[in-house]
Order: sequence, then C-alpha cells, then structure tokens
Amino acid sequence: MKILGVETSCDETACAVVEDGVKELASVVATSAELHKKTGGIVPEVAARKQVESIVSVIKECLEKANIKDPKKEIDAIAVTYGPGLIGSLLVGVEAAKSLSFIWEKPLIPVNHLIGHIYGNYVENERVGSIELPAVVLVVSGGHTDLVVMYDHGKYEYLGGTVDDAAGEAFDKVARLLGLSKYLGGSQLSKKASECEENTISGRLPRPMMDRENFDFSFSGLKTAVKRLVENENHPVEVVACEFETAAVDVLTDKTIRAAKKVKAKSILLGGGVAANKCLRSRIIFEAEEIGIPVFIPPNKYCGDSAVYIASAAFFNNHPAKIKDVKADPSLGILD
Ligand code: KG4
Ligand code: ZN
Repeated sequence: MKILGVETSCDETACAVVEDGVKELASVVATSAELHKKTGGIVPEVAARKQVESIVSVIKECLEKANIKDPKKEIDAIAVTYGPGLIGSLLVGVEAAKSLSFIWEKPLIPVNHLIGHIYGNYVENERVGSIELPAVVLVVSGGHTDLVVMYDHGKYEYLGGTVDDAAGEAFDKVARLLGLSKYLGGSQLSKKASECEENTISGRLPRPMMDRENFDFSFSGLKTAVKRLVENENHPVEVVACEFETAAVDVLTDKTIRAAKKVKAKSILLGGGVAANKCLRSRIIFEAEEIGIPVFIPPNKYCGDSAVYIASAAFFNNHPAKIKDVKADPSLGILD
C-alpha cells in the first residue's frame, strides 16, 4: 500500500511516499527556516505564505522522485497532518491533501503531528520487528513534550507533559540567550555544549520537577535560571550550554526511565526534533540498558519534521475521514 503524506505544520513543506508504513519511496522537504533566522523567530504569516508557494512543487517533485507516473492508479491513500501547528501553515497542507483526495478519489487519513513523530521509529528501521508493546514514548519537539504509554497503534495512555515551555523551546530560548542562534538553536547549543571539557558549574542549574512523583515537566524556570546565571556570573558559553543541556537531559531521562519501570514497558521510543540530541540519545540508551529495555530513536532525518512518518502513521492507524470533516486544528494535544 502506497501512501502519499503531506506535512505543513510549521515552517517545513514536506511530502513523502511511503510503502506499507515502513519503506520510504521518496521524501521532499522545503523549509523557510532561513527567513525566520533573519527575524529571530517565526512570523506565522511568512511561514504560511512560503507554504503556499512551495506546496505544489514539493508534491510534484516527490511524485517524480518516487517514480509515480499515474498517481490515481499508483497511490492508495493520502495522509495529512491536521494539527497541532500554525493554523496558516496547516491549512495549506490540509487543503492540498483534500484536493488530491477528491481528484484521485483516494481515502484521506488525517494524522496528529505528535503521533506522527512516533512513527519515525517505524520507517526504514531494520529493528522495526523488535518494537514490542507496551512502549513508553517520549515525544520531545519545539512545541511539545509528552510522555505516553503506547499499548497498540492508536491505543495510548497519557502519563504527563510539560506544564509550560516545551523542551525544544527551552533549547531554542537558551541558544538565543547565549548568542548561539536566533532561531531553532537546539542543535547549535548542543554542539557548543560538546566543546565543554569540564562542567565547572555542575548541578548549579535546577532540574525542575525531577523529584516529583508525576510525569510532568517544566522548562521555563530552567531557562530563567540560565538567564540569571549569565547575568550574575561569568562562565564560558560552552560550560553554561553543557550545564543547561545536562539539566534538561537529566529530567527527560529520569522521567522516561521511571515511567518505563512503572508500566513495565517492553520498549522505549523517542520522537520529535529534540530526539536528535546526542546527549539525550546516549543517556536514555545507557540508562535503559541498565534495566534491560530496548530503546528506539529515529535517525536525525526522521526526528525533525518530515512527511515520511506522517504517511507511516496513517498506514498503522488507517482511519480515513470524509473530506468535509478534516479540519486543521492548531491546538491539538497528543491524544486528541
Ligand atoms: O519536531 P520538530 O522538528 O518541530 C516541532 O514539531 O516542533 O522540533 C524542533 C525542535 C526545535 O526546538 C529544535 O531546536 C530542536 O527540536 N532540536 C534540538 C536538536 N535538534 C533539533 N534540540 C536539542 N538538540 C538537538 N540536537
Ligand atoms: Zn515536529
């Protein structure tokens, strides 16, 4: 079964063709990130306008790459991200997908972007057969940080999530604070942190909510603590970056491992842009090994936004909807 996926939740215009949920036949991503770097943050209208400009050529290029000559015959369904995200951006993908579904007479499968992130673990993964459920899933992106138990495809239980900033948002804000990047600086911050030879301020930043029994997170106080630290003391940027990254990773790892133990998870899955963080990846793998639970983390290209795992999620959660019922929903939660 070949599914064409469309993802336009934020600043990426993405299209992919995926076979049986696990094989990438083609993927094309156009991004307007460079424009937002100039303004030091995303301007939703600018992102939406770029989506409109790119969507047709991205879909066309993707079909060519997948060697699809007659989509009406060769494509079996259309998958689309309907939320969460920026409303102007989401509408572009949703309306494009509806048009394709109508013209090609194919089922339309709406996909929650956050659930989509989980399926970065299912595509082009030779270990896919070893993903045993129930799994504890940590979805960490620029807009969300959620811990859920996955009992089956489409069957989840919410454990906790951030009560304020998302983990990626904290990385981005601290990167800006430290003068490393004006927009989406998570990976630059992490790179800087890796230059730190000795963390001379180890333990000085808070590990918010780490000693609480629940599975909620809070990252806004951590960001404020970094601000206060750099205002009042003089430490090399790489040392502050390292202490911040360690604090964030401590909390994310601790809660994920505790959740896995509590629900007797058979696997741990990560998803979302922050899952590309090397420090987080190695800490989770190390700690999960200690308790004998296998960890699955998507390759970097499937951590960031892509239509590949949207098409994969649609295959494993094949619930087509009537075209008129599919509506962009910017404030969707992971289990909505
Ligand atoms: O999932 P994603 O591409 O977009 C959303 O759905 O939000 O996540 C983007 C987030 C940004 O906050 C970005 O800075 C962060 O992921 N990110 C990282 C790294 N790579 C991307 N954060 C920490 N370390 C990284 N290596
Ligand atoms: Zn995302």
